[in-house]
Amino acid sequence: MMKIDPKNNFKTKIICNKLTYKIRKNVLWPHIKNNHYSLDVDNQKGTFHLGVFINEKLISIGTFVKENNNTINTKNQYRLRAMATDTSYQKKGAGRLLLLKGIEILKKKKVNLLWCSSRLHAIPFYTSLNMKSLDKIYHIEHIGPHKTMYLYLNK
Ligand SMILES: CC(C)(COP(=O)(O)OP(=O)(O)OC[C@H]1O[C@@H](n2cnc3c(N)ncnc32)[C@H](O)[C@@H]1OP(=O)(O)O)[C@@H](O)C(=O)NCCC(=O)NCCS
Repeated sequence: MMKIDPKNNFKTKIICNKLTYKIRKNVLWPHIKNNHYSLDVDNQKGTFHLGVFINEKLISIGTFVKENNNTINTKNQYRLRAMATDTSYQKKGAGRLLLLKGIEILKKKKVNLLWCSSRLHAIPFYTSLNMKSLDKIYHIEHIGPHKTMYLYLNK
């Protein structure tokens, strides 16, 4: 199979929430049956959505939301939600590119900390980008066990 070099072939762009629905449906939330793939925070002030494209095809998505996690004592936090890469394109560097672009944008906004609720199997992805995890494991209905991952920015 042709080797994809993420630096040369992938483009990261800000996208609108509707473009995320197909990957949210296929990769993240196949249990949802009513075709509602929006999050209540999708159009909240401060929210932005990133997409990674190969040619014109959207292959990876992530939504960055202004939301504090009260178990972490730091002001001005953002939360990453609904991060996913199309199953045919996973492990090719698209997710890494998206998260690094998100971090770059958040640093410019002087955000102090990025956090997310990670499915246990996705933890190695976040740790590969230097995110740390809190100890507690908690259950999210329909999806499974999660841990909170976080990264201090601007330090
Ligand atoms: C987790 C996910 C978003 C990662 O996206 P991706 O585009 O595949 O990630 P990348 O190719 O950029 O991976 C970057 C690094 O993360 C690590 N990594 C990624 N996925 C991994 C996995 N499933 N297991 C172990 N390590 C993984 C690797 O170290 C990789 O570096 P490498 O290429 O040098 O090996 C993607 O696998 C996915 O959509 N999974 C299903 C949905 C999901 O669980 N989303 C997260 C919800 S919390």
